[in-house]
Amino acid sequence: MLQLQFNPFPFIETDRLILRSINSNDVDDLFEVLSDPAVAEYDYFYPVETKEKVSVFIERYKREIASNEEITWGIALKENQKLIGTCCLGSFDTGAKRAEVGYALSKAQWGKGFATEAVKGIVAYGFNNIKLNRIEATITPDNIASIRVLEKLKFQKEGIVRQRDLIKGKLEDGVIMGLLESEFDNN
Ligand SMILES: CC(C)(COP(=O)(O)OP(=O)(O)OC[C@H]1O[C@@H](n2cnc3c(N)ncnc32)[C@H](O)[C@@H]1OP(=O)(O)O)[C@@H](O)C(=O)NCCC(=O)NCCS
Repeated sequence: MLQLQFNPFPFIETDRLILRSINSNDVDDLFEVLSDPAVAEYDYFYPVETKEKVSVFIERYKREIASNEEITWGIALKENQKLIGTCCLGSFDTGAKRAEVGYALSKAQWGKGFATEAVKGIVAYGFNNIKLNRIEATITPDNIASIRVLEKLKFQKEGIVRQRDLIKGKLEDGVIMGLLESEFDNN
């Protein structure tokens, strides 16, 4: 059985980051992330235009956590507590012990290894605590940075899923990448 138990919220600490629950105090920082067209480019959502819309995202995160549908962590810098992005595990399949991983970071923080560090933290949590066997993601082929993040964590490219995702009105192929518990390096 999967251990889908997110109360109390599973706080995760890495070298430079704190992965924690997102709350209404994070609206301004999260607006910086979710309003940026560069961040939204390969994702389902359109850039948000108002802070009220960010509050809607935060309420949705809370509902999804309460229903064990998806867990979204805020990625905060240890040095100043600023929230610089989000990462999540969701689409849980309890029989196959599988989940999908997602992540997004403020553009100002790209290229510093933060996504790799955060995703490594939640992947470890997924295998060690939730007891997943497989974590996967499908990524738009042009999203090189995202593919690279998962490659650095030893996810394998398993193929192309054709016309998998409707992104901003267009059906896009997805590169499917997966990591098995037996392949995960806990160190
Ligand atoms: C994808 C994303 C989270 C990566 O965040 P990040 O903190 O910059 O990632 P990291 O620094 O940990 O690693 C990025 C890697 O991609 C590489 N990279 C980035 N852009 C690249 C490009 N255009 N060509 C080749 N490599 C590229 C970086 O050099 C780095 O690899 P390296 O460590 O081997 O040099 C960030 O770009 C983002 O938020 N994008 C928008 C949201 C998104 O697309 N999320 C994923 C949806 S599937």
